[in-house]
Amino acid sequence: LENGMARTPPMGWLSWQRFRCNTDCVNDPHHCISESLFMQMADIIVNEGYRDLGYQLVSVDDCWLSRERDTRGRLQADPHRFPSGIPALSDYMHKRGLSFGIYEDYGNYTCAGYPGILGHLEIDAFTFAEWGVDYVKLDGCYSHPTDMDRGYPLFGYYLNQTQRPMVYSCSWPVYQTYSGLTPNYTSIINTCNLWRNFDDIQDSWESVQRIIDYYGDNQQVIVPNAGPGHWNDPDMLIIGNFGLSYEQSKSQMAMWAIFAAPLLMSVDLRTIRPEFKAILQNKGVIAVNQDPLGIQGKRIYKDKGIEIWARPITPVFQGHYSYAIAFLNRRTDGTPSEVSVTLRELGLAYPNGYGITDLFDGVHYGTVLPDKRFKVDVNPSGVVLVRCQVIKGSAGAARF
Ligand code: GLA
Repeated sequence: LENGMARTPPMGWLSWQRFRCNTDCVNDPHHCISESLFMQMADIIVNEGYRDLGYQLVSVDDCWLSRERDTRGRLQADPHRFPSGIPALSDYMHKRGLSFGIYEDYGNYTCAGYPGILGHLEIDAFTFAEWGVDYVKLDGCYSHPTDMDRGYPLFGYYLNQTQRPMVYSCSWPVYQTYSGLTPNYTSIINTCNLWRNFDDIQDSWESVQRIIDYYGDNQQVIVPNAGPGHWNDPDMLIIGNFGLSYEQSKSQMAMWAIFAAPLLMSVDLRTIRPEFKAILQNKGVIAVNQDPLGIQGKRIYKDKGIEIWARPITPVFQGHYSYAIAFLNRRTDGTPSEVSVTLRELGLAYPNGYGITDLFDGVHYGTVLPDKRFKVDVNPSGVVLVRCQVIKGSAGAARF
């Protein structure tokens, strides 16, 4: 969607994967969906450096609503869990240099059974604008996937009518794919800033791998749709939760960088362990994710549990892209696998070679010419992510 928003993939924090629909603030006040949860996360995002690395969105997911609209037919937050109200919460974010996101559903109900927007599209778009919302995730439960080709653009039209710029996150293709329909990506790109293509992520390596496979197996259809203002959304980062090991967490971060995916953390930032925080805060990986060209990467090799993924990035010199290359090890051998390639085999043929840096361990490999053999050791269920930067200069000047 060309609304000036999301020129690079959105980054921030979203409540769903970690906190779900916990509404029991009486017995579990520290983990329930309440204004104080979002305020605490916002404080940490500011105070612990996440915001300044780009994680600027704090977004409410499902279960923030009252069961009923108000007497004027407007949405209202649960008064016990959001006693200050949504405008105050969005204000809290804006005062801290953050943006504020909210969740709704193009249907009769949200997925968790709260009021949906069907029949109220216009009033709800204007309510969000009035509340200072910057980002709307519009889910698709309790609606007809055949109606989405009309309904998602119609809500987008009303968002636009409000004149408040809002990022528009859609779930349109995933529901249509489930129903056996073929999503109209031309319309989706024109309507949404990002969209979910596939299943909800769960807290496991198995779930992360299923998403990686879906993106690889369907890359001919999916990858060309990504670009500044319009992104594929493989769902939230689960790094720092219960299901991923350290290696697997690096793998998710690296692959989401290759995918040009939104980086939406869903983790308890109050208790995250430092090694997982460091993964989320890795500047080199974030820079790949946020590369201004916005070209999504592809799987270029897959054999015996080893995959190689490549994403073109800046700088570009004399028509040659730089690249982020991910070597992903799906094996469970118990010992690292050596992967040995030449850059030319990966399609990197710039004659002056590429300056290669490992983005997790910081090792510089110096300048590597296209035909020089290049080796990495990849840990089981882990990744090696390197940045291969074109060396500017006259041909033949650089050596390794
Ligand atoms: C759907 C979405 C999730 C989350 C839940 C909330 O399953 O895909 O991301 O928003 O609904 O109920």
